[in-house]
Amino acid sequence: MSRAWNPGDRVLIHAAAGGVGHFAVQIAKQRGAWVIGTASARNHAWLLELGADEVVDYHTDRFEDAIGDGVHAVIDLVGDAVADTSTRSLEVLHPGGILVAVPSGVSPELLDRAEKRGVRASAFMVEPDGAALTEIARLIDAGAISVYVEGVYPLHCAAEAHRRSEEGHGRGKVVLRVTE
Ligand SMILES: NC(=O)c1ccc[n+]([C@@H]2O[C@H](COP(=O)([O-])OP(=O)(O)OC[C@H]3O[C@@H](n4cnc5c(N)ncnc54)[C@H](OP(=O)(O)O)[C@@H]3O)[C@@H](O)[C@H]2O)c1
Repeated sequence: MSRAWNPGDRVLIHAAAGGVGHFAVQIAKQRGAWVIGTASARNHAWLLELGADEVVDYHTDRFEDAIGDGVHAVIDLVGDAVADTSTRSLEVLHPGGILVAVPSGVSPELLDRAEKRGVRASAFMVEPDGAALTEIARLIDAGAISVYVEGVYPLHCAAEAHRRSEEGHGRGKVVLRVTE
């Protein structure tokens, strides 16, 4: 059922404008993917500049209708608890394709549904990985990946930074400055 990654594979990234999503867009593009991102319209021009090939406004369009031809992989950074995106994403995967469900993980129901459709579903949990961080830092230093910082907060404003982040509609990253 599984298949190897091929250049030109179509990847759908939900919450493409967020802290994780804007890296996912750039890294997928660098790996040769055709990148489709979901985001509010105000983020579309920026995402196209970052390397997205198509953007879908999730407020006005159902991604299932907007992306046409189906995709080989979905990175879901929104989750079923918020918008049912993981379950809905199974419908747009090509046979053998993979859904990586980041915030909600993979429930037995989702796994079962994926199996019945002949696709894969996988959870993802960040783990400390020095080698990967070194490679990402190299790409950033080389200008191959850009980091969008929406706001820098001093440490005593950590609660405010958290509130901004928890709104769930930020662009890129929020930074806490520990020292001047
Ligand atoms: N499992 C792990 O190891 C791991 C690691 C990192 C993060 N996470 C989780 O992954 C998720 C993403 O993290 P993040 O830091 O990237 O979050 P974030 O920066 O807060 O994401 C904000 C983005 O989500 C977009 N968004 C909100 N609802 C959406 C929807 N229904 N469809 C499409 N886009 C939507 C917003 O777009 P608009 O502003 O355009 O509306 C905004 O750009 C979070 O739930 C986080 O907890 C898990």
